[in-house]
Amino acid sequence: MPDTITITDDRTGKTVTVPITDGVFPSSAIRELDPSLFVYDPAYMSTAACKSEITYLDGGAGILRYRGYPIEQLAEHSTFLEVAYLLVHGELPTAEQYAVWQHEVTHHTFIHENMRKRFVDGFHYDAHPMGMFVSAVAALGTFYDGAKDIDSVEAQNHQILRLIAKAPTIAAMMYRFSVGLPFNQPNNDLTYPANFLNMMWKIGDYEVHPVLERAMDVLFILHADHEQNCGTTAMRVIASSHADPYSAAAGAAAALYGPRHGGANEAVVRMLERIGTIENVDAFVEGVKNGEERLMGFGHRVYKNYDPRAKIVKRTADEVFAVTGKNPLLDIALKLEETALEDEYFISRSLYPNVDFYSGLIYQALGFPTDMFTVLFAIPRMVGWLAHWQELLEQEQKISRPRQWYTGEGERNYLPITSR
Ligand code: ACO
Repeated sequence: MPDTITITDDRTGKTVTVPITDGVFPSSAIRELDPSLFVYDPAYMSTAACKSEITYLDGGAGILRYRGYPIEQLAEHSTFLEVAYLLVHGELPTAEQYAVWQHEVTHHTFIHENMRKRFVDGFHYDAHPMGMFVSAVAALGTFYDGAKDIDSVEAQNHQILRLIAKAPTIAAMMYRFSVGLPFNQPNNDLTYPANFLNMMWKIGDYEVHPVLERAMDVLFILHADHEQNCGTTAMRVIASSHADPYSAAAGAAAALYGPRHGGANEAVVRMLERIGTIENVDAFVEGVKNGEERLMGFGHRVYKNYDPRAKIVKRTADEVFAVTGKNPLLDIALKLEETALEDEYFISRSLYPNVDFYSGLIYQALGFPTDMFTVLFAIPRMVGWLAHWQELLEQEQKISRPRQWYTGEGERNYLPITSR
């Protein structure tokens, strides 16, 4: 069987044959047939918008790999900072490279005082932390002259370090502001996850529990990248206009904010709270099947199998609950999962738990309020966004500019307001 596809334009009889590589064929085939012909694919259901060497995902088989390394191995053996290096630089670091990387990230965690005093203090007291995070990431770019110098690899690396290092600082700052607590400065003696937990929770004597530190690190690893999801696509689209990485990352974070994307973990906990008891699960599932409800944390555009990250999150949840005590919502979640996985509605649609189904329960057990959940997703995803940003710049991709299928009115004449 040849690895080619032949497309015939029945209007003209013209035929074009192009190669299929890795299951992909170039859309230039369509342009070759007729330059005025376009493919209608509004949610990119069948479109590979770029080439990428960063993350491999096989949704049918439930496989996720960063730069070739299975997510299961990275979650078991690696650290978030090592994974960050891997995603950005393409290879796992040597001991020497890791030491330099760790030192550099650690020493970029501080934020200009005016950011807090002038910018953060301007928010309303009950502003949503994710809304503040989105704005703060964009604002951060205005503090650095080199932010717009996207042609210099050295400047690119500098912005990458800053954004990875400062994302937890911004996140913790937003939380402390929202509860009226003084901001804790970063502590450069701590690991990346421990420093974040310390900035979040330190009041008087506070020591990060090693199990919770590791759980945070594992969750960061699992969320670091997920190829061309909505947020990363936003990052690439904005970056293709050569906007600075802070503005592009703010756009990506805004995409992540939505309940269909990164906001799902928050929605899962609200859903579980609304269900209230195990006895109400069946009625809730009926509501989902009738189209009155959506089972948050279930289903995925790409995974038509158990999300491999969900399995790791479920295991991590047990480790965290051993320290914090069981989250009372866990039993409802387990019952919901069991009921859904046996139900024809979910089976026939290949709907399985995604990463967000259990992550919110861990976040809650760690003490995070629900409106911080998406921020907890944005901190590690910053790494993925930046890896894609750098890859896009290397590829010298043209500006993203899709076409549309115009379905509006034909030409008509303007009428003065008195004649309408
Ligand atoms: N609950 C109930 N039904 C669902 C769900 C769900 N969570 N997800 C999909 N379906 C149904 C759809 O209604 C549709 O049914 P139909 O064929 O009868 O119309 C069918 O399954 C196919 O679903 P689509 O909506 O076509 O799937 P799509 O790829 O567009 O959506 C999405 C994926 C947005 C993630 C969806 O599954 C969803 O809304 N899930 C809940 C929100 C969620 O958990 N999001 C987190 C995703 S992971 C992440 O972003 C990190």
